[in-house]
Amino acid sequence: MVSIHSFAVACGALLLSVVSGQDTPVRIMALGDSITGSPGCWRALLWRNLQTAGITNTKFVGSLPGQGCGFEYDGANEGHGGILATGIVEREELPGWLASSTPDVVMMHLGTNDVWSNESPTELLDAFGTMVDWMRESNDGMKILVAQIIPMNPPNCVECGDRVVAFNEAIPAWAASKNSTGSPITVVDCWTGFDTATDTGDGVHPNNAGNEKLANCWYEPLRSAIQG
Ligand SMILES: *[C@@H]1O[C@H](CO)[C@@H](O)[C@H](O)[C@H]1NC(C)=O
Repeated sequence: MVSIHSFAVACGALLLSVVSGQDTPVRIMALGDSITGSPGCWRALLWRNLQTAGITNTKFVGSLPGQGCGFEYDGANEGHGGILATGIVEREELPGWLASSTPDVVMMHLGTNDVWSNESPTELLDAFGTMVDWMRESNDGMKILVAQIIPMNPPNCVECGDRVVAFNEAIPAWAASKNSTGSPITVVDCWTGFDTATDTGDGVHPNNAGNEKLANCWYEPLRSAIQG
């Protein structure tokens, strides 16, 4: 009797998971630099917010492990400290990362180090274009979320704040020109409301308050990519 009861319960659970789609996790790659990866605790908050909302059919993927953020979370990521978008393209690194972790969704907060190196928005967005092409070669239905990056005010770069603004302003037209219905690009505004004075410790990297803002800017676009 016990075994028949267990079988019925298992069948019910299976049926429920098939109906709700909870059995096929959506594979999500967070791609970026130290703001994303070291430690990038906004990803931990974002994961927890999804869990709390019952959105559990997710698998975060990437070659880097999560770092400590005070609680257990799904922390794999592709946030490489110090990396430039143009560097990823020059070294052709993204195709290998994509092949290893086969994401369905890429969420990218990238460009801070490029801006710091005084690359023009055009150079930077050319690199993004190559990266989008690689993403679609990996998965022709890739959902691509591109951040308008958080502001920056490092002590050694008084122009960086304005350069970020110029880069962010160029993103929407670029994204529209690269868009496709099969592999949509969503621009995610992580700039608005973020204050380098209160939301970073060093003018660049989010502190706890900044991590909450990053978790919030990503939440709705990512929820939509997972469930849409
Ligand atoms: C790309 O197209 C989708 C619809 O397929 C739309 O929702 C989205 O806003 C578009 N993105 C841009 C950047 O225009």
